[in-house]
Parts: sequence; C-alpha cells; structure tokens
Amino acid sequence: MIKKDIAVKRKKGLYYLVKEDNGIQRFKPWLGDAFSFLYDLIMEKSIFPKKFGGEMARHVEILRGELGNIRNRRVLELATGSGEAVRYLDNSNRYAGLDISPGLLKIAAGKFAAAGFEDPRFFVASADDLPFADDVFDVCLCLLSFNFFHDASAVVEEIKRVLRRGGEFFCSVPVPERRERSSPIHGTLYSEEEFESMFQAGGFDFQSLPGRNGALLYFKAVVK
Ligand SMILES: C[S@@+](CC[C@H](N)C(=O)[O-])C[C@H]1O[C@@H](n2cnc3c(N)ncnc32)[C@H](O)[C@@H]1O
Repeated sequence: MIKKDIAVKRKKGLYYLVKEDNGIQRFKPWLGDAFSFLYDLIMEKSIFPKKFGGEMARHVEILRGELGNIRNRRVLELATGSGEAVRYLDNSNRYAGLDISPGLLKIAAGKFAAAGFEDPRFFVASADDLPFADDVFDVCLCLLSFNFFHDASAVVEEIKRVLRRGGEFFCSVPVPERRERSSPIHGTLYSEEEFESMFQAGGFDFQSLPGRNGALLYFKAVVK
C-alpha cells in the first residue's frame, strides 16, 4: 500500500513519514493540535451555522445517503480530521485516513476503534503528496477540507494516481455561489464549475450530488 522508497514510522498508533535525516515529517495544523479536543464542538456550533449557513445533522444525513452503501472497499480519506467519517461509513471497509494534524488523527483513531473498523490506519501526511502506491484504493473521500489545500491540482493528480480505474472520489466543500453568510471561510473557495473542470481535466467524470446544505456542494468524481 505504501509507495516504494517512502519510509514510515509507527508512533502511538499513527504512521509518520520519515525524512532523509531520519527525523519525522511534521506539518503546521490548521487549528493547532492543542485545540483538537474542541474540534467537533466548533464544527457543529460555529462553522456549520455561522460560516456555512447549514446544519451538521443535514450533512450527516446527506453523507449517510451517499456513502452508507459502500461496503468491503479500500477507502482513503484525505483530511480525516477527528474521524467524523465513522458516522457515514460502514465498518466493513478497509480504512486509511490522512491528515497533517496528529492531534486530530489521535481522536479519529479512538473513534474508528470504537466503531469496530478492522485495522484502520492513520497517516500524518499532506493530501498533495500521498505516501501510497498507485491504484490501491476503490474510494477516496475528502469532506469539508478541499478549501484548505494549497495545491489543488496536485491533490487531484494524487487522487487519480491512488484510485483504481472506476474508483470514486466523494467530496463536500463550501462553494462561493451557495454562500449566504458573510463570515469568512478559511482557504481557497472554488466554484462548482471550477471543480468540474479541474476534475474533468484530471481524468474524472464529474457529477454534482443533489443534497443541499447552506454553502456546501456535494459532488462525486469517477476515474475514467
Ligand atoms: C474542517 S477540517 C475537516 C475534517 C474532516 N474531514 C471532517 O469532515 O470533519 C479540515 C481538515 O483538513 C486538514 N488539512 C488541512 N490541510 C491539509 C493537507 N494539506 N493535507 C491533509 N489534511 C489537511 C486539517 O488538519 C483538518 O483536519
């Protein structure tokens, strides 16, 4: 599953990338690892109502509808965060999660263990440079995070590389044309049209999903 020539080291339940000097690669997390324990509360009580003008409960409902039937697949999640995907994903799936924040991944590891996933793996790495070999996943998820990535086209290329042909990418992301709140949203916001051309140019079929929830767009892209 790991790319040739990449070394990883397991420490306290997470996999870290090993640098040339044998040290561990670290990143600068969005919220600061010290605040990881507040993450779920901030998302539900502040980010959803105040920034997205939507609801966490509706988000869970939409994603359960789209992802709930996925069973026994090799699933990769980009930007796992605190592991909220246990609310939408069946535990028969072989799950690998990736995030730049070890603090959030540790919380995620606890949730996946409690939800009964068998040997879920958590990697401290960035979505634009995945440590995985080609064609090793059936499904890739990226929920509420694409706006944080600095190099969107590198992320699209990486998703295409690690998914098998016919593999599916599911995304939920705020888009400017659905925003009704003036409270700023962190990162770069791409429109639905921009996502469509980005993924089509990257070798995917793009499909917007029907769920509506404030500023959020839900879409799927399938590797051609
Ligand atoms: C708003 S949270 C969403 C987390 C989770 N997907 C969810 O639905 O609750 C955004 C996440 O993106 C992660 N992140 C930011 N930049 C990243 C990158 N380059 N690669 C991987 N994860 C990243 C942050 O650490 C954070 O966990």
